[in-house]
Amino acid sequence: MKKSKLIIDKNFIIGEIDRRIYGSFVEQMGRAIYEGIYQPDSPFADELGLRKDVMKLVSELNVPIVRYPGGNFVSGFKWEDSIGPRDERPCRIEEAWGTIETNQFGLNEFIEWCNKVNTKPMMAVNLGTRGVSDAKNLLEYCNFKGGTYWSDLRKKHGYEKPHDIRVWCLGNEMDGNWQIGSKTADEYGHLANETAKVMKMIDPDLQLVVCGSSGRGMPTFGEWEMKVLDWCYDNIDFISLHSYYGNQADDTPNFLANSMDMETFISSVIAMCDAIKGKKRSKKQINLSFDEWNVWYHTLESDKKLEKWTHAPHQLEDVYNFEDALLVGSMMITLLKHCDRVKMACLAQLINVIAPIMTSDTGAWRQTTFYPFSHASAYANGKVLNTLVYSPKYDSSDYTDVPFLDAVIIQNEEKDQLVILAVNKDLEEDMEVTCDIRQFADYTIKEHIALYHSDLKAVNTEVNPNNVAPALISGAKIDEGILQVLLQKHSWNVIILGKI
Ligand code: AHR
Repeated sequence: MKKSKLIIDKNFIIGEIDRRIYGSFVEQMGRAIYEGIYQPDSPFADELGLRKDVMKLVSELNVPIVRYPGGNFVSGFKWEDSIGPRDERPCRIEEAWGTIETNQFGLNEFIEWCNKVNTKPMMAVNLGTRGVSDAKNLLEYCNFKGGTYWSDLRKKHGYEKPHDIRVWCLGNEMDGNWQIGSKTADEYGHLANETAKVMKMIDPDLQLVVCGSSGRGMPTFGEWEMKVLDWCYDNIDFISLHSYYGNQADDTPNFLANSMDMETFISSVIAMCDAIKGKKRSKKQINLSFDEWNVWYHTLESDKKLEKWTHAPHQLEDVYNFEDALLVGSMMITLLKHCDRVKMACLAQLINVIAPIMTSDTGAWRQTTFYPFSHASAYANGKVLNTLVYSPKYDSSDYTDVPFLDAVIIQNEEKDQLVILAVNKDLEEDMEVTCDIRQFADYTIKEHIALYHSDLKAVNTEVNPNNVAPALISGAKIDEGILQVLLQKHSWNVIILGKI
């Protein structure tokens, strides 16, 4: 059996977790909205046509912020199509995903849904086919108190009070050639800065997210960030990062090592933000919004066969297996380890489209990836302690020195808890983990929750929704101030310590 050691000191704190790190993302595509959030003819629908079974699961995930309406979708979106009387809303060709958008669910319905699931919107403006003026109008419609054309139109639509949306994304993945209206870094930097400037003239307290590269693998990665930040530094607050990983090669050790790529991505972007800060002699710090992250690969090939120009097709409906949940857990740990700079993050996406929640006409269920995310959101709140992980390592096809153990420890002072999140990536052996917790003398083990399945490819489906599900584990102990816990091979773990 392998052995690992965690070292913490309660005075060595990385940062306070901004709960928006547990955000998610809903794009107006596939069955995310239609048959996911909104299905008026479903037996599960409430008076607004919103699915109650889905809202229950979203509430269980406890996501404090949800990005909307895209994604690639936003770059061709005319937001005015999605407001006002439903029977007057136009059907449009939706070029980004090759579908038909009916606009039966739109901006105001999204806000109603956010209120019902106790989350906040992170709204994206279209900087693909549109620009400053439309972003300004959208902001006026959403946030202005009244007495102007757009704010009075909102009132006419039944929303007397402003929606007061605090966080706005300045477009989406504008460096990608798949993006409608993609741009060079200078073109985008200029447009994003002008848009940000005007939005902040209306409300200086908005939090604005500028597009970073759509992935670390983009040929312009780095150069893009530096140029865009140079243009926008004074008017924006966050830069975005997006990352998806897949196990196309069926090489699980390498697949599970991908959290190392995410780690490098984050530290590189922090370095770039701080380089521009230095160059500009600025006192301001730009933080990171990792507003698309997940596993995504199961449907990349099969989706190519989808018929085009249909409404709400089964698009990007990845069925996640158990090993996908392990990587999601490792990615969550990586984000938390950077909570001093990653203040917002969005698991992409939330319902039906590369999502932890799936629906059919007969109900909704949790995919495997639901669990590490919901556990972190429920238990990992407070301060992240600088967690030194001494673990045996392995080499994989793309990575060297991959620790078998990924772990982070969070101190929740409000609840008097210490919470350990850990993934054992060893596919062959269980692991014994120790941690000196003498600084927490009156703490005891409250719970050890684990997600484990003997089959790495096991999935949850409509007919077998609880095939991969968490279980309580016994055996962890504290002996003379040393915590000792056994992590099963290939498992996700939450160990909660609290006052006796
Ligand atoms: O989440 C799916 C897509 O991935 C988003 O629309 C886009 O931003 C990214 O490329």
